[in-house]
This record gives sequence, C-alpha cells and structure tokens, in this order.
Amino acid sequence: MIVTTKKLFELAYGKYAIGAYNINNLEQTMGLFRGCIDSQAPFIIQISKGARSFTHKKMLEALIRTADDIFPNAIFAVHLDHGDEATCMDCINSGFYSSVMIDGSGLPYEQNIEVTRRIVDAAHARGLVVEAELGQLGGVEEHVQVSEAEAKLTNPEQAKDFVTRSGCDSLACAIGTSHGAFKFSGSQGLHFDVLAEIQKRLPGFPLVMHGSSSVPQDEVARINAAGGKLGGAKGVDEEQFKRAAELGVTKINIDTDGRLVWTRVHREFFRDYPEKFDLRDPGKIFMSEYAKFIAHKNAKLGSAGQIRMLKAALA
Ligand code: G3H
Ligand code: 13P
Ligand code: ZN
Repeated sequence: MIVTTKKLFELAYGKYAIGAYNINNLEQTMGLFRGCIDSQAPFIIQISKGARSFTHKKMLEALIRTADDIFPNAIFAVHLDHGDEATCMDCINSGFYSSVMIDGSGLPYEQNIEVTRRIVDAAHARGLVVEAELGQLGGVEEHVQVSEAEAKLTNPEQAKDFVTRSGCDSLACAIGTSHGAFKFSGSQGLHFDVLAEIQKRLPGFPLVMHGSSSVPQDEVARINAAGGKLGGAKGVDEEQFKRAAELGVTKINIDTDGRLVWTRVHREFFRDYPEKFDLRDPGKIFMSEYAKFIAHKNAKLGSAGQIRMLKAALA
C-alpha cells in the first residue's frame, strides 16, 4: 500500500526512523519488498534522477506497482531523491510519487528558499509533500560535487528560518555524513550536538539524514578478496540510528550499502563459478542477500515490527 511520507513521519517521530532505500532495477525492488515484509517494516522507496533514466522512468513505476500487488501487506511511500526543479515538477505531475526532494543545497541560501517554495506550492496543490536540504554534505552526488573539506553543517538558526519561509515538510540536514563509500578519513562521528540544536528550534518537525550507509568492513573485505579495490571505505555507525531518531530524524537514506551487497554477491559468484553465465544465478542470490540486508537495517532503524501499529493507525 502506497501511503504519504507525511503519515509515515507522524507515526515514527521521536521513536524510530524509516529506511529510505534507492532502487534501480527488478532485483533490488524484489529484495527490498521481501526484506521489509520479512522484518514487518514500513519503508520509503527512493528514485534518483539517474535511476529514472537508467532504463525508463516508467519502468520503475511499473516495477513498484507490480511489487505492491505481489506484496499486499507492504506499507511504503515513493520519493524522488535529490531532485532538481524540472524533475520535481515531472514527478509531481506524474501522479505516482508520494513526495519529492528538491535539492537546492548547492544554491545560495535565498535561492534555495525560492526554488523550494515553488516546489512546495506545486506539490501541496497535488497532495504531495516536499523534502528540502540545507547545509552541504561531503562526497559526490549526481549534480553536486562537494569535497569533504568544504562540507558545511546545517546552521540550526538558519534551519528554522528556512523551514518557515520555504514551507517544506521535512528537512535534510548536514550533520557530518556524506554520500558514497568513503565518508570519513580519520576520527569521525555524527554531530548530535547540531542535531539537538536543530530539534530544539524545530520541535516535532521531521528531519532527514542522507549519506547514512555504514559501509560494513566485512563486506568491503569480501569484495576486495574477490578482486575489488575499495581501500579505506568507511561509513556511519548504524548503532547511532536510534539516537538520531530520538532527536527528530524520521528518514534515513541508505543506498551505497545496497550497492556493496550487489558487488560482493556478483564478484564472489563469478570468482567461484567462472564457467557460469546465467544472470539468474547471481540474481537469485542477490535478491535473497538484499532482503536480509534490508531486514537487518530496519532492525537497526527501529522500523522493524511497526507494520501492525501502522495498519491500525491508518485504518
Ligand atoms: O545520493 C544519491 C543516491 O545514492 C543515488 O545515487 O544518483 O547515483 O542514483 P545516484
Ligand atoms: P549513502 O551513499 O550513504 O548510501 O547515502 C544515500 C543517500 O543519501 C541517498 O540520498
Ligand atoms: Zn542523499
């Protein structure tokens, strides 16, 4: 069942965070639904601009509608990840998405407010909600490149002004994470002090944490042992998810870790079975491993086991 992101946030706020997982293809979609049913967790499907153009934007819509049919007990929202203005408008007009993210974080402050306000007005008129971003994460996104050194944490005072003036429904904050597999070079940590200051100024307002893959070291070691070269990859400690949730983070974005599962499964498969060439053989292993990975993440986020309460609240 597709629900609004807003509803999911209302029910989760302060208690747990919803996993927001990016999908690009059939195997990820099946593994994601299977993992969320196995762990009885609500979830958010994220579709990036790159994912929309990987095959065809309608392909992912069709996959999601079909998965909804196959897994009638799934409760999820469909969200555009890191949208620009044109892509947000396309998604709003499609009638399929629950929410969009307008990523104006690379723009000057006033321009970020202006573009977010335009998307909020268009989205609210069609019943969608909007995630905006303030502050800059390190790492690499599709259309924004920010080096770790230049990463700018969200200013709590500015966050309040931004939310008030832009009218956005949730806010992605920069609190020390970055996208990709190489998040931290030395000692690191999430800036819970900054998060607490933001929550103080925006009580009850849903916050979002991007760049939240944990880049498990055993996964990296297995990939490297099977021919990969991922030296020094490091991520966010998943034991910190619940603390972030208590401080108002209701959505936690995870993409890279799923890519690592895919890489590990395929590298190991072709290393161990060099004579094989049926794509369904590693594909089957991947779907099952991806489902386990998703169920594990949902347990760490606190979203596992919430479907029953959610169903009662939605009835
Ligand atoms: O933050 C970006 C997500 O990991 C999506 O990545 O733009 O390569 O699809 P992508
Ligand atoms: P990771 O690269 O840490 O998985 O972050 C994903 C993300 O923020 C998607 O918007
Ligand atoms: Zn992101």
